[in-house]
Amino acid sequence: MKKILVTGGSGYIGTHTIVDLIENGFDVISIDDNSRSTVYGMNGVEKILGKKIKNYKVDLKNFDETRAVFQENTDVVGVIHFAAYKAVGESVQFPLMYFENNLFSLINLLKCVKEFNVPHFVFSSSCTVYGNPDAIPVTELSAIKKAESPYGATKQMGEVMLQDFSKVENVSSILLRYFNPVGAHPSSLIGELPLGKPMNLVPAITQTAIGKIPKMFVWGHDYPTRDGSCIRDYIHVCDIAHAHTLALEYLINKKNKTKCDVFNLGTGDGVTVLEAIKMFEEVSGVKLNYELGPRRDGDVIAIYANNDAAVNELGWKIKYGIKEMMDTAWKWELRIKQEEALMTQKADLN
Ligand code: WQD
Repeated sequence: MKKILVTGGSGYIGTHTIVDLIENGFDVISIDDNSRSTVYGMNGVEKILGKKIKNYKVDLKNFDETRAVFQENTDVVGVIHFAAYKAVGESVQFPLMYFENNLFSLINLLKCVKEFNVPHFVFSSSCTVYGNPDAIPVTELSAIKKAESPYGATKQMGEVMLQDFSKVENVSSILLRYFNPVGAHPSSLIGELPLGKPMNLVPAITQTAIGKIPKMFVWGHDYPTRDGSCIRDYIHVCDIAHAHTLALEYLINKKNKTKCDVFNLGTGDGVTVLEAIKMFEEVSGVKLNYELGPRRDGDVIAIYANNDAAVNELGWKIKYGIKEMMDTAWKWELRIKQEEALMTQKADLN
């Protein structure tokens, strides 16, 4: 079996991708220092797969520790790099922390990829690299405008580093630009576990619906869109995960057109914040307590993908619609509540 090294393997997209890779015949190891995730994620992966996944609890900013993982696994044929800080608002407050973490980690990884001749590299990028697009839907050739945040800037710089590195080294890379990953695995054993107050829309919706948050705000209702709220391209995390498996197979089978191909991962459908909330209410049967609030700094008004390249070249077929995104997200939130109740009961008994 071909062995893949996944960084950030305990995280939201990392866990779902490990499940998809294993189910498609790959062997997987993970590097995750659990600074932004918990072992809960990997426990869920192991319950779904019925097998243990080796995770190296290593900070990628530590070159020697990172190199030791490659030294111990010289049969790795591909790296999928998820591990990065990704909170837009936090990045505005702490830019240096974001540049140090997201870029030093990538540089250390690429040094190891070079030294150990790893032939394939998949980079977790984001539609954030487009900034506020001039025209939508965006294609992979749409202008890369000034990043709206240091987080977005680290994704833009990461892409440039990979393009230049792949040009001169024996590695073929792929940049996957996710739109808005949402939802959870149908088993409800893995999903998004935001640390602290959720910044992203769908966790904010489900945590409000379950009562963890008393009320949520719709940030901006006077935008030039069909209902005044922002438009985004929500994409199910399982569809995102499977695109990584397809991207690796595309590279392994030498289908790539350049040393660093780029793909948008979105449904191609734009959904407003208010439409997403309405869909959630229909699916869950829960009336959401929200208030129309002011615009949020750094928000893009509207963006959604042209995904023809991923569909036609990777053979990507989207399985989940907005209804399943909301349904699986809600079922995941319900399961977390159940687990928390169980843990409280156990604590009371001890
Ligand atoms: C979506 C819309 C908010 C919360 C960011 C990153 C992107 C990716 C996903 C990493 C916006 C509105 C949100 C709330 C709201 N990150 N909203 N009330 O900002 O499009 O994308 O997260 O992979 O790279 O840029 O996602 O979910 O934060 O916001 O009204 O409580 O929902 O204003 O219009 P975003 P988001």
